Amino acid sequence: MFFKSVPTIAILASGLIASATQTFSNTGTLSGWTGQTIEHKGSIREVTDVVYKGNTALEMTQVYDPNWSGRFHSEKSKTAVYKLGGQGYYGFAFRLQDDWQFSPAQSYNLGQFIADFTDTGCDDWMPASMVWILGNQLYTRVKYGSICSQRTRTFEKVATVTAGEWHRVTIQANWQTHNGSYTLWFDGNKVVDVHNIPTMINDARPFDYHVGIYANGWHDDHTMKGSQGTRQVHFDQISVGTTFADADPSQW
Ligand SMILES: *[C@@H]1O[C@H](CO)[C@@H](O)[C@H](O)[C@H]1NC(C)=O
Ligand SMILES: *[C@@H]1O[C@H](CO)[C@@H](O)[C@H](O)[C@H]1NC(C)=O
Repeated sequence: MFFKSVPTIAILASGLIASATQTFSNTGTLSGWTGQTIEHKGSIREVTDVVYKGNTALEMTQVYDPNWSGRFHSEKSKTAVYKLGGQGYYGFAFRLQDDWQFSPAQSYNLGQFIADFTDTGCDDWMPASMVWILGNQLYTRVKYGSICSQRTRTFEKVATVTAGEWHRVTIQANWQTHNGSYTLWFDGNKVVDVHNIPTMINDARPFDYHVGIYANGWHDDHTMKGSQGTRQVHFDQISVGTTFADADPSQW
């Protein structure tokens, strides 16, 4: 009799957690993540002097070196936050260093969703959606098609970013090979809102969520533009959830 009653209790319990659920949250601490990528002279520190909310934030730094042929990541990660057919909200707050050099423009990535496709023979770690800045403009994108025939749709210059101030990013996505949707709020304003578009590669493996500075321009352009070889971005209130409030850094 005891055993027979267990499924009934489980069904009742799952019914209670239907609406707002933060499935991941980090208040700017080094602990609580599933992984990190820190390459070459990069670093990640937990700090108390520059925070968006609470007592701590993460200070992510990357340092250019012309003799380093690898990439330039300083990122924290949470594995398996979505897969094909899923949907959710993903957010973080970030702050570029006070004297951030915007010009000449080069790409610095701030957040990305990524999975390992090495077994396909067509790619290795493939970032799908990303959020980056080029100059003082915010960009984002979705990936679709197949891993061996990738398609990219980029949303350019969707917002203007300032240095020395906290900004909020929240993404809502319905991850589908057809008829998905992708919405991005910047500082609470909806700046991307597209529906009935493909938002996912036709592959069922889970994607990881990475936030931090990834100076992808330094690697992809084989040089650093401008003169600011040490770049610092603070991150705070990083989360994944089922409602906007779950992933808007100002609301939790
Ligand atoms: C790069 O390598 C060259 C040759 O070894 C060296 O002279 C130079 O100082 C290096 N530059 C940096 C920034 O380490
Ligand atoms: C996508 O949605 C449109 C209507 O919004 C519908 O006509 C179409 O059949 C849908 N396509 C797929 C592949 O679900």
